Amino acid sequence: MKLKDKVAIITGAGSGIGKVTAEKFCMEGAKVVVADLKQDVIDSVVKSLQHIGGEAIGISVDVTSSEDVQHLMAKTLEAFDRLDIVVNNAGITHDAQLLKMTEEQFTNVLNVNVMGVFHIGQAAAKIMKDQQSGVILNASSVVGTYGNFGQTNYAASKWGVNGMTKTWAKELGRYNIRVNAVAPGFISTPMVKSMPEKVLAKMKERSLLQRLGDPQDIANGYAFLASDEASFITGTILSIDGGVTL
Ligand code: NAI
Repeated sequence: MKLKDKVAIITGAGSGIGKVTAEKFCMEGAKVVVADLKQDVIDSVVKSLQHIGGEAIGISVDVTSSEDVQHLMAKTLEAFDRLDIVVNNAGITHDAQLLKMTEEQFTNVLNVNVMGVFHIGQAAAKIMKDQQSGVILNASSVVGTYGNFGQTNYAASKWGVNGMTKTWAKELGRYNIRVNAVAPGFISTPMVKSMPEKVLAKMKERSLLQRLGDPQDIANGYAFLASDEASFITGTILSIDGGVTL
């Protein structure tokens, strides 16, 4: 068990990659905090984690609210007394080409994908500094390195995530806090399934492995980076993309 007794908050764990990552972390022995927007969704994920023998609690949070994030941290410490890992996985898209994108579309995506990561990262880093240990993992994307048609806002947000990842690795290494990101290619989740069929077909074609990724592929990457097996890895952005960017 790679993550035995580690306490991990996973944001956006109600769906897609976050949900599968929560399952993987439980199976690796972690105590998991399922953090997402809707209480009923959270409750059902916590139930399914407990069903497979996992130790999990759920806390509802909107990562764009610093008050919510403070509450999340306080409740986590109340339940488990420490915080070893955060996976900053919550993220949204709201696509439009540049000439049609509204300021609201731009701001909404930046608020969740950048401000949300900032809130969680800062609050977690304070706890981890006191502990003199911790791992922060951020959800980037291939789009954060290569851009993508129709995703000005999302590309800007994931570029921001990459910048925060590297900056925090530099600032927090002295406190024994490792900070890394995972950059998935196109993974079969509700977010990606909402993309136009034409775009999806193109993505499959471009992958050297001729398929979309599975959320499990990403969960495995997070589990590795969170574990002591990755104890000398910090400041990296791990591509898990089936070679789509080659
Ligand atoms: P998803 O849409 O299946 O799940 C995202 C979760 O985040 C949802 O449960 C949602 O309720 C939650 N969430 C959204 N806004 C929130 C907020 N303000 N506060 C708290 N929770 C919030 O998404 P998916 O596909 O699993 O993506 C997860 C992460 O991986 C995202 O950051 C995404 O950008 C990134 N990613 C996904 C890729 C893919 O192909 N699916 C590719 C590259 C990156």
